[in-house]
Amino acid sequence: MIQLAGVVKRFGDIRAVDGVSLFVKPREVVGFLGPNGAGKTTTMRMITGYLVPDAGNVEVGGIDVVKYPEIAKRKIGYLPEDNPVYEDMTPYEYLEYGARMRYVFGQEFKKRVKEVVEKTGIGDVITRPIGELSKGYRQRVGLAHALIHDPEVLILDEPTSGLDPSQIVSIRELIKELSREKTVILSTHIMQEAQHLSDKIVIINKGKIVAEGTPEELEKLARGEMVVHVITRDKRFRDILEKKGFSVVESREVNNEYEFVVTAQGKDDIREEIFNLARKEKTTLLEMWKERVSLEEVFLKLTKEEEA
Ligand SMILES: Nc1ncnc2c1ncn2[C@@H]1O[C@H](COP(=O)(O)OP(=O)(O)OP(=O)(O)O)[C@@H](O)[C@H]1O
Ligand SMILES: [Mg+2]
Repeated sequence: MIQLAGVVKRFGDIRAVDGVSLFVKPREVVGFLGPNGAGKTTTMRMITGYLVPDAGNVEVGGIDVVKYPEIAKRKIGYLPEDNPVYEDMTPYEYLEYGARMRYVFGQEFKKRVKEVVEKTGIGDVITRPIGELSKGYRQRVGLAHALIHDPEVLILDEPTSGLDPSQIVSIRELIKELSREKTVILSTHIMQEAQHLSDKIVIINKGKIVAEGTPEELEKLARGEMVVHVITRDKRFRDILEKKGFSVVESREVNNEYEFVVTAQGKDDIREEIFNLARKEKTTLLEMWKERVSLEEVFLKLTKEEEA
C-alpha cells in the first residue's frame, strides 16, 4: 500500500510536484506516464524517502516515509532513472553492498542472492565488472539490487529506457512477473508500455495528476471527447451545430460540400444528436463518421492543454 496526500516539492521557483494525492493498493501496478519534466522522478524520489516533500504526506505500507525513512526504505526496492551501478564492482559485490545497506547478512543474504540472481537471470555475469555489461544486463543487475531485501514495494523509474527492442521485451516480462507479488510504481514515456504493464495509469503533467484510471477507463475518457465528421451541402449547419452547443473545430469545403469536424465536451456519443438535429433542421447529411481517438491522443491532449 502506498499513499500520497497533497505532496508538493519545489526547486526554487519550479513546482516540480504540485499537490499529488494517490492511493496504490497492495500488489497493484501503477504506471506514471508523462512528458519530460512532468515530475515523475521527483515523486518517486519522495516515495522512496530520498527527497523530503515541502508539504503533504507519503506512507508506504502504513509507515510515514518522512518520519521513519529507514524503516520505510526496508519496504521499498528502488530502481533509479540512471541506474547508478558502480562500474568497477561485480554484480555480486553490488548486491552485497545493497544488502548491507538494508541489513541483510549471512545466511539470509546467501538465500536472497540465489533467489534474485535466478529471478533476474544474471547468473552468467555475476563476477564480471558491471562496466563491461550491456545496458540490458545492467538493468537486470539494478533490478536484482532493488529486490535483494525482498521489499513489498518496487519503484522503477523508466526501467526500459535506453534498451534495445529485445531487451525491452525481456525486462517487461520480468517486471510483469515481479508485479504478481509486489506493489509496483513504474514510470515511462511510452503509452503502450504503461498500458501493457499497469493496472492503473496515472498521467502526470507539470507536477499534477491530470488523469488516472485503468487503461479501459482512460479509453472511455477518450470516447467522451468523441470527434464526429459530417458532410453536408447545407452551409448553415455549422451555425446550427454551434447554437446547440457543439464545437466545430474544423471545417472545409470541396465542390460545395462542407465537412465539419464536431465535438462536444463531456458527452459520450453525439452521433444520434447530430443526426436528429439535421433531420429537424431539414439538413441532409451526406456522410457522418466517428474519428477514433486513441489513448495516445488523450495523453497528448491532456499534457498539452496544461501548457496554455
Ligand atoms: N534536483 C533538482 N534541482 C532543481 N530542479 C529539479 C531537480 N530535480 C528535478 N528538477 C526539476 O523538477 C521538474 C520535474 O523533474 P522530474 O525529473 O521529476 O521530471 P520527470 O517527469 O522525471 O522527467 P523525465 O521524463 O525527463 O525523467 C523539472 O522541471 C526538473 O527540471
Ligand atoms: Mg524522470
